[in-house]
Amino acid sequence: MAGERIGILGSGDVGRALAAGVARHGWEARVGTRSPGKVQRWADGTEGVSVGSFAEAAGYGDVAVLAVRGDVVDAVLDLAGPERFAGRLVLDATNPLDFAGDGPPHLLFGATDSLGERVQARLPDARVVKCFNTVSNAQMVDPEFADDTPPMFVCGDDPDAKARTEQILVELGWPGAFDVGGIESARYLEALVPLWVRVGAELDTWEHAFAVVR
Ligand SMILES: NC(=O)c1ccc[n+]([C@@H]2O[C@H](COP(=O)([O-])OP(=O)(O)OC[C@H]3O[C@@H](n4cnc5c(N)ncnc54)[C@H](OP(=O)(O)O)[C@@H]3O)[C@@H](O)[C@H]2O)c1
Repeated sequence: MAGERIGILGSGDVGRALAAGVARHGWEARVGTRSPGKVQRWADGTEGVSVGSFAEAAGYGDVAVLAVRGDVVDAVLDLAGPERFAGRLVLDATNPLDFAGDGPPHLLFGATDSLGERVQARLPDARVVKCFNTVSNAQMVDPEFADDTPPMFVCGDDPDAKARTEQILVELGWPGAFDVGGIESARYLEALVPLWVRVGAELDTWEHAFAVVR
């Protein structure tokens, strides 16, 4: 909601797209990074956005977004301080992608595990919702697809947290959320992403998303 604060852990494409996007909707966003100097100039030129450490972003407002490389999530939570997330809604946009080798990415792990579950286990006092991980950063706020915008796939264990997530998504231009269950379903939302990359390569676009039809 306008005037609210959101801490975004991650200064890559996702962190910056989300921060600038929510700021357009009147939020105050703080981007967390190991190297604030690296993105300070960008933040100075982006109204509503400030930069700090991962710990400062984790403690900023009631909502946090996790938007860091999938293989460093644990390290970033250590740097942020897991206790700072207590009672907060944590939107987990991360994917456990393995870019080793040629060709499109594979999963570092999956089928019986996921980053969503690991994050919820590391942050037992936070309410984790998997969100944003199945679309490109350019579409995360005010999405514009050639076809109708589908609802965002989400999952998480706390119904109130998912309801709040849907409110936020609607405010950011999404038609709503498509709830696929508890946080365990993150293993399937994360597994969609290597498929999403292969579909994008075939279509020659990254401005696509999965929709459910019947
Ligand atoms: N790119 C997309 O369109 C997209 C879409 C959906 C989901 N995702 C997922 O969102 C997450 C972020 O993606 P991204 O494309 O924005 O960028 P990224 O390159 O995957 O992640 C950048 C962030 O990771 C942090 N990081 C990298 N190595 C680190 C280390 N050794 N220790 C601590 N932090 C480290 C960086 O910290 P510093 O700020 O300190 O450099 C930076 O904040 C990923 O999990 C990705 O799979 C991406």
